Amino acid sequence: MSKTIVSIMNVEKMYGENHVVKNMNMNIAEGEFLTLLGPSGCGKTTTLRMISGFEMPTAGAIKVQGESVEKKEPYQRDVNTVFQNYALFPNMNVYDNVAYGLKVKKVPKKEIHERVMEALRMVQLEGFEKRRITQMSGGQKQRVAIARAIINRPKVLLLDEPLGALDLKLRKQMQIELKRLQKKLGITFIYVTHDQEEALTMSDRIAIINEGRIEQIDTPVEIYKHPKTKFVANFIGETNLLDAVVLEVNGDTAVIGTEVGKAMVQLDPKDKIAVNDGLAVSVRPEHMKFSKTPVDGFTIKGIVKENIFVGNLIKMMINLNDGTEIRVNRFDASDLSEPGELVYLYWDLPKGVVIKEKELIHTDSVKDIEGGDPDEEE
Ligand SMILES: Nc1ncnc2c1ncn2[C@@H]1O[C@H](COP(=O)(O)OP(=O)(O)OP(=O)(O)O)[C@@H](O)[C@H]1O
Ligand SMILES: [Mg+2]
Repeated sequence: MSKTIVSIMNVEKMYGENHVVKNMNMNIAEGEFLTLLGPSGCGKTTTLRMISGFEMPTAGAIKVQGESVEKKEPYQRDVNTVFQNYALFPNMNVYDNVAYGLKVKKVPKKEIHERVMEALRMVQLEGFEKRRITQMSGGQKQRVAIARAIINRPKVLLLDEPLGALDLKLRKQMQIELKRLQKKLGITFIYVTHDQEEALTMSDRIAIINEGRIEQIDTPVEIYKHPKTKFVANFIGETNLLDAVVLEVNGDTAVIGTEVGKAMVQLDPKDKIAVNDGLAVSVRPEHMKFSKTPVDGFTIKGIVKENIFVGNLIKMMINLNDGTEIRVNRFDASDLSEPGELVYLYWDLPKGVVIKEKELIHTDSVKDIEGGDPDEEE
């Protein structure tokens, strides 16, 4: 178990009437690569700005190594940020850009030189010292920005969509480089993206944020295999979601009824599912199966609408009679049903993920959070 380096406790952020971060709680471990992932406007940048100490929570507290960041002067903080637009000085060369923070702090020249060269070596930009920023490619500028951010040896590095401006190929390459660099430096990374594939590739854990709330915080594998909410199931990868009600519970399985027929699911005893409970079942396209004849326990029928060949994969679209479109991915072209044919849908029980929407804690009312902030008492 590693030590917690950043803790976010009951944090709320209001901009006027706009409640942008809601009851946020999370502990980030030393050396962890944690990603904040969510749609535009969900509060990712706001959360980073609060961790960096440039923005104050409306209520709650954020601590870095047990201390509130905003109590320290910006240059003393153990947190540094890489912004999306890099914020480099275009007229200065690479060396001066990287050295800037140390010059301001009046670090001796010899030490500056050693540290700049070390930082440039880390990001594989040795030999580029004299190059002007305007003569660097997107990926190179990105690395200069990182060298500049790590030169102060921060404990925590915040990165706000740092690869957003790069083309896909360079982006993929930089994802792997950045992850390697992070492991080598041992710095805690808090990384923001709205690209789910990027988050899955790079992170130790991902916090999925929706409208200012953390819906789930888990490893990439857990998030993909066991989404806890419908939002998470939909946001990460492709899935088929069916709303249902529990008809029968038999030990660790249940019979559920949907608008379009019955199915079976496997239960997790922790979920405490009972007859008449509402739930959703999420089945990934690669796990949805179909048969030309009925399958025990499943009565959901559909009509094949089309089969789309995508390289080694066939994407099948199957329509249910309530209009729902079910997606099935098949890797074997020899075993398809043709458009217009009737099929019965089913899945291996462990592949049907039961989602019981928990009551998310509601703190929308401003009243709830008053009195939590000592600065308000005037
Ligand atoms: N300084 C501000 N004053 C008022 N409202 C703000 C301010 N900064 C952000 N907001 C609002 O807070 C919400 C969250 O913004 P934020 O920038 O954190 O989103 P984001 O998740 O980073 O989105 P994106 O992916 O588009 O960058 C948005 O509704 C935004 O309009
Ligand atoms: Mg943002």
